[in-house]
Amino acid sequence: MIDRETVQRILDAADIVEVVSDYVTLKRSGASYIGLCPFHNERTPSFSVSRAKGLCKCFSCGKGGSPVNFLMELEQISYTEALKRLAKKYNIEVKERELTDAERQQASERESLFAVNDFALNYFEHNLTDTDDGRDIGLTYFRERGINDWAIKRFRLGYSLPKGDALYRTATAKGFNEKYLFDTGLCAKTEEGRVYDRFRGRVIYPIFTTSGRVVAFGGRILQAKKEGVGKYVNSPESAIYHKSVEVYGLYQARQAIAKKDRCIMVEGYMDVISMHQSGIENVVASSGTSLTEGQIHKIKLITRNLTVIYDSDPAGIKASLRGINLLLAAGMNVKVVLLPEGDDPDSFAQHHSSTEVEEYIERNSQDFIAFKTDILLKGVVNDPIARAGVITDVIESIALIPDPITRNVYIQECAMRLGMSEKLIVQQCDKLITARRDKEAMKKAKEDAARTLQGVDKQETGTSTSTQAPPTKPEETEQDDSLYLAKYERAVLRYALKYGAVEIGDEAYDQEGNAMSITVIDYILGDLEGDGLTITTPLYARAINMASQLLRDEWPSARTRADERIDKERQQMWEQGVAAIRDSGCSVADIDRREKELRARCDEMVRGARAVVAQHFIEKQMASCDDDEIRRLTTDLVSERYQLSKIHTKHAHIETEEERLYSLVERAVYELKDAVLECQQRSIRRKIKAVCSQPNCDPSQVLALMQENKRLTEIKAEFAKFLGERIVAPRR
Ligand code: UTP
Ligand code: MN
Repeated sequence: MIDRETVQRILDAADIVEVVSDYVTLKRSGASYIGLCPFHNERTPSFSVSRAKGLCKCFSCGKGGSPVNFLMELEQISYTEALKRLAKKYNIEVKERELTDAERQQASERESLFAVNDFALNYFEHNLTDTDDGRDIGLTYFRERGINDWAIKRFRLGYSLPKGDALYRTATAKGFNEKYLFDTGLCAKTEEGRVYDRFRGRVIYPIFTTSGRVVAFGGRILQAKKEGVGKYVNSPESAIYHKSVEVYGLYQARQAIAKKDRCIMVEGYMDVISMHQSGIENVVASSGTSLTEGQIHKIKLITRNLTVIYDSDPAGIKASLRGINLLLAAGMNVKVVLLPEGDDPDSFAQHHSSTEVEEYIERNSQDFIAFKTDILLKGVVNDPIARAGVITDVIESIALIPDPITRNVYIQECAMRLGMSEKLIVQQCDKLITARRDKEAMKKAKEDAARTLQGVDKQETGTSTSTQAPPTKPEETEQDDSLYLAKYERAVLRYALKYGAVEIGDEAYDQEGNAMSITVIDYILGDLEGDGLTITTPLYARAINMASQLLRDEWPSARTRADERIDKERQQMWEQGVAAIRDSGCSVADIDRREKELRARCDEMVRGARAVVAQHFIEKQMASCDDDEIRRLTTDLVSERYQLSKIHTKHAHIETEEERLYSLVERAVYELKDAVLECQQRSIRRKIKAVCSQPNCDPSQVLALMQENKRLTEIKAEFAKFLGERIVAPRR
């Protein structure tokens, strides 16, 4: 944990142009800089860097962000790690935040586990190369399997001595608490209380997190398979190791994956190592078990494109089809490669050059439809019932794809491949999607009902529950409503993040006609609160709360700091200017006039510099915060171009967004309120429908609802008038 003050100093110091320049050659282009995008291979530069905004962005692949985010994505490191790198670059001493007792306890617990693992890592490595046993047995084994020194170093392979408790003795002698040796699973105790090393007599494959910390180990026996002994032993789950979220090789592969924008997935440790050794470094392994959502998530942070390599063992392939469905549902683009019979990625990479391997993958990549149909249709081509089953299976996979456009591409592909009508597949998909949504809605309704019943039970135990009509799929339409609202909330939020600390006071007046000073954020929140409204989309709500908190807690001191800096600049500008005037040796009257001009220029500079600071404060903070979602959202919103409506462009003088900020914000808030009213009306209409469809419908209830509807229509008409008036109103 780095303390807030230090984080602030790091963020203040970090200059996006300097940070990006460490990786990319930048050329000036107007107000910004431009260069070749480091996130993907390109020939014409589309990576743009804006010093004023403190942001960079690739117009082609969309990656970029604040200095922190840039480093995180490019180097695939954590938030804290990125801050530390920036601190180093700018010679800022990093003070770690004082932890609370509970945090310290927990942190030290985890740190202790990492520390023993780290010790074991070095110990195993040392055994492999610096002991006779290690060299004779472990190293010889790796040599026989064609693993070279580079790969051994890169994957930090090691050897655990065959002696029963060698690690235990060495570690405890070094002062490590045995508790952590047991908690990490490096050592264990038999029922009789004898201690032994879990990995004794095995070669070691350490398992790293994406940021390079060692969380677990895999150990392989050296002899041919022994009865009752697993070929591999792995560390058990611990406070620092969750098997289902770690991906073997991701640490070593992360940069290659980012660069190639593709991840290759194989099965085992040796497959990964041999592929890397042959020069193909964007390779990771699921480590034998079937893929989990957590693992997919880790990969998806780097790329959405995944190639899975299978050896052509039919039983294994069929088992892996479920994994493909999981990948599709996660929105990954999946390709599949089958290896020649008898090969696994390890043997294939060992026996072919990297170009050959790459070419093979290139040429044999199939999309999952081709793959599934080929596999499943084998042998059933002439059996119509089995064939129908295969088709259903493939369509089920397609229906899992969340993005409708991608889904459609696959529908076309499937229609072509199976000689079916596209329309039929679309229908089938829609049916499955609706069924899935209904199932989810039903589940939610059941949960809601259970919750309500619990509440009712608490109040009046024993009363039978009313015979309510089952919910007529209100979920879906309510969902539509929240999507509709989200659009307007986003527009408002954009102003809050982009101009949050800017004061729009000189255009707002209180009842007595005095100019009021109010920041964009306070205006937005105050106005909504006045009508009892809040932002409802969870992420947006989180973002605006964070912005408002920053404004309250951080902005005053940030402004003071900026003012001090600007004052100094002013002083300098003034002194230099005065010296120049004196040196020019003009008349006293001239000196007077020129000094006046200079003062005006200095004042203008101060005003401008202050405005720039206020304008970028919130966005800079939020584009650099430790919340992944907020960082991304802020970067997106800030780089979104302001869409000039047709009406505005008719004016000869197109005013900038900054110039008409007050009316724009006012308008965005009104439009949001209008959208809220619209949703309330939709909900009333739904209620009316529900009431009317009941057999013994109560007319007075319907009437009340209709009256409420009318009231809302009237307010909306007021809004429409306001919005209509403001639409063209240029600034006076
Ligand atoms: P493989 O048997 O394909 O392993 O199992 P491999 O990496 O190719 O190993 P070699 O070539 O025999 O040395 C694939 C993965 O499944 C896990 C390991 O992670 C292995 O890398 N596995 C396999 C186990 O955890 N336990 C086992 O008993 C077997
Ligand atoms: Mn193998």
